Amino acid sequence: MKDLIEVAGGKRLWGEISVQGAKNSVLPVLAACYLANGQCVIHNCPILTDVDAAIKILKYLGCKASRQGHTVYVDAENAYGYEISEELMHEMRSSVVFLGAILAKTGKAELSAPGGCDIGLRPIDLHIGAMEKFGAKITEEHGRLYFECPEGLKGTEIVLSFPSVGATENIMLAAVTAKGNTSIVNAACEPEISDLADFLNRCGAKIHGAGSNAVFIEGVEKLSGCEHRVIPDRIAAATYMCAAAVTKGQVVLKDIIPAHIGAVVSVLSESGCDIAIRNHSVSLSAPPVLRKMGTVRTMPYPGFPTDAQAPVMAVAALCSGTTVFTENIFENRYRHVSELCRLGANIKVEGRVAVTEGVKALSGAAVTAPDLRGGSALIIAGLSAGGTTKIDGVHHIDRGYENITDNLCQLGADIKRIRDYEERECETKKNTASGA
Ligand code: EPZ
Repeated sequence: MKDLIEVAGGKRLWGEISVQGAKNSVLPVLAACYLANGQCVIHNCPILTDVDAAIKILKYLGCKASRQGHTVYVDAENAYGYEISEELMHEMRSSVVFLGAILAKTGKAELSAPGGCDIGLRPIDLHIGAMEKFGAKITEEHGRLYFECPEGLKGTEIVLSFPSVGATENIMLAAVTAKGNTSIVNAACEPEISDLADFLNRCGAKIHGAGSNAVFIEGVEKLSGCEHRVIPDRIAAATYMCAAAVTKGQVVLKDIIPAHIGAVVSVLSESGCDIAIRNHSVSLSAPPVLRKMGTVRTMPYPGFPTDAQAPVMAVAALCSGTTVFTENIFENRYRHVSELCRLGANIKVEGRVAVTEGVKALSGAAVTAPDLRGGSALIIAGLSAGGTTKIDGVHHIDRGYENITDNLCQLGADIKRIRDYEERECETKKNTASGA
């Protein structure tokens, strides 16, 4: 069943919404639940297909796992599964974040090499190298990776050649119950790393320095269950700010952590948006004409987040002047550019650089979401484009945005989700063909 999102552009966004919990925090926290002896209760879990996939993996490993609204309950006490099926790995490539927890708990792990995805090769050499340093033996056969460490993981020092978010998370999950101490040098500093450490420490782990590039973990015997509320999704917040920016709108986003969106605030302020930060909310009032943003370089946190590059590019497409993007994190994260150009944007890509010349207006067309954040960029562009924009590939968007069409409707957008569009369209073609 394929759905379609249809946007009639030109409506000014106005009002306030609450921002969902962070997808990229929920996933490692759910993986960490596998290590806890007892029930974990995780609040503020967004309703997303990636979260559903993580719950499926926990059940496949033998856990009791269920969701009630935005709360997920996990009990891993009597779960000792150690392999993730090809099918489940295929459903969500970030399933690799379960590796550290499975290996720590069972002394072995079997999963598929995640393989590339829409935005790049997504290698896991840093994850594998780290597990070897903990003492695991690794073999690969027919695309399946086999990890073994029957004597258990031993604490060690790991120097990351790149501050990989996923590798930092897997190392933390492997280290918390390892024998001895572990230090991570050049660790990722993203807020989701700190949130994972907060969760693990609440379960009895001893992690120091999370959120900085030097993390120190003292191995403990075991972890208990706990209750935890996941941080807000800084990328969802950035996405809704961009939607307001392109519609000359005025919105308030509640339940956010302002410190997490600093780099996006500074880029949107440069385009002329008036942004005010309050304790747990941000308000954005867009100018009648957006100014160019200059240069946007994606960097590890606290630099400009790669996940906000596509949504912000949809804003840059409408700024008066040139904005130059450099994508330093992933090697293929401009698949939304061709779709934005179908809507009338003027963007040229040369390797990791995308030069965006602002245009006065975009015009609606039929486009396809190439990936999660590219999909959100097309919605943002459609909100401003004259006429109607039809977006398919909605399953990509469902991976990371909870109820994005309802939220935008609440802010005054003319946007709707058309269910089972493909079947209906075939139905029409069939009827026409048979002259029905
Ligand atoms: C996490 O992916 C996020 N996903 C991504 O969000 C985000 O874009 C990324 O971090 C960067 O912030 C989740 O948290 C589930 P990395 P991750 O390891 O962990 C290279 C979204 O849209 N690398 O920091 O996979 C890698 O190829 C998603 O919500 C290696 O070379 O990112 C990339 O170029 C997309 N070897 C760079 O590092 C490795 O072993 C950053 O990757 C691991 C990574």
